[in-house]
Amino acid sequence: MSMIDPFGRDISYLRVSVTDRCDFRCTYCMAEDMTFLPKKDLLSLEELERLCSVFIAKGVRKLRLTGGEPLVRKNIMHLVRQLSSHLGNGLDELTLTTNGSQLARFAGDLADCGIRRINVSLDTLDPAKFRQVTRWGELSKVLQGIDAAQAAGLKIKLNAVALKGFNDDEIAPMLRWAHGRGMDLTLIETMPMGEIDADRTDQYLPLSLLRGRLEQEFNLRDIGYKTGGPARYVEVAETGGRLGFITPMTHNFCESCNRVRLTCTGTLYMCLGQEDAADLRTPLRASEGNEMVAQAIDEAIGRKPKGHDFVIDRRTRRPAVSRHMSVTGG
Ligand code: 5AD
Ligand code: SF4
Repeated sequence: MSMIDPFGRDISYLRVSVTDRCDFRCTYCMAEDMTFLPKKDLLSLEELERLCSVFIAKGVRKLRLTGGEPLVRKNIMHLVRQLSSHLGNGLDELTLTTNGSQLARFAGDLADCGIRRINVSLDTLDPAKFRQVTRWGELSKVLQGIDAAQAAGLKIKLNAVALKGFNDDEIAPMLRWAHGRGMDLTLIETMPMGEIDADRTDQYLPLSLLRGRLEQEFNLRDIGYKTGGPARYVEVAETGGRLGFITPMTHNFCESCNRVRLTCTGTLYMCLGQEDAADLRTPLRASEGNEMVAQAIDEAIGRKPKGHDFVIDRRTRRPAVSRHMSVTGG
């Protein structure tokens, strides 16, 4: 089975936001006084599992749990355990993207469930700056989480959002640190999603600029390495490690998009950079069988758009996509 969209793309990757809540309030992601989805609208873990199973039966081979922060969802390991039973059984990979705050507690269990690789979001190695950008986070906890994950045998990729005047000077030392510990590092351009307290145009830093600066210090060689995502990788001669660039703003990678995103209320977004979505909760709850939900998925895939178009309206200064990143988890 496979799901082919109108542009011939094989949709084999499902990202599942298990909660829009988070124990951090990163300045580029959320407003400090965020309102979250009402708890009564949440799918139960059983419903999430059922939806994921339908997607796997329809051709999804890779599943990533996101948030908000996935590890703050109550009983999340129950869902991970259920989903891991699909590994080798239609599902090739189960993974997650986390802010690392709870990793020290969960790393062992995650590895036991067959998770091999995780992404950890980390924008700075300076404790004061870490507090500043996450508002609520504590760097030492995340570093302990990374230690625990590596000790449990999990491979880690770090994701850093490039923020002008904030961490641009820190990318070189972070790269040395990450590669010294056997972790890849990927840089991400900040995307205008949702109202935040800061002005996004102040934060935005094109990665082409950052790459140019890094090249004064490092030899970067383009490599064909792919992880099934939009990152383009280089190998850093001085460290022997890999550095990835995710450039939604300066370079459109939509032609090879293989993913859709499910939220914790059962809404399916066919594109991160578009508002169109499909409600899967209603068909899921309408019957015990999965025919209706499978049909709703087919309809949704049938209107997956060609690509995204992130812009900030110059007049209103409003982002083109009003929903926050924490609804879909990147
Ligand atoms: N632009 C780019 N990346 C973002 N993230 C959160 N908000 C944004 C944004 N507006 C990142 C987080 C994390 C991932 C899930 O998405 O830092 O790495
Ligand atoms: Fe939480 Fe991630 Fe958003 Fe930061 S970027 S507030 S860690 S969901």
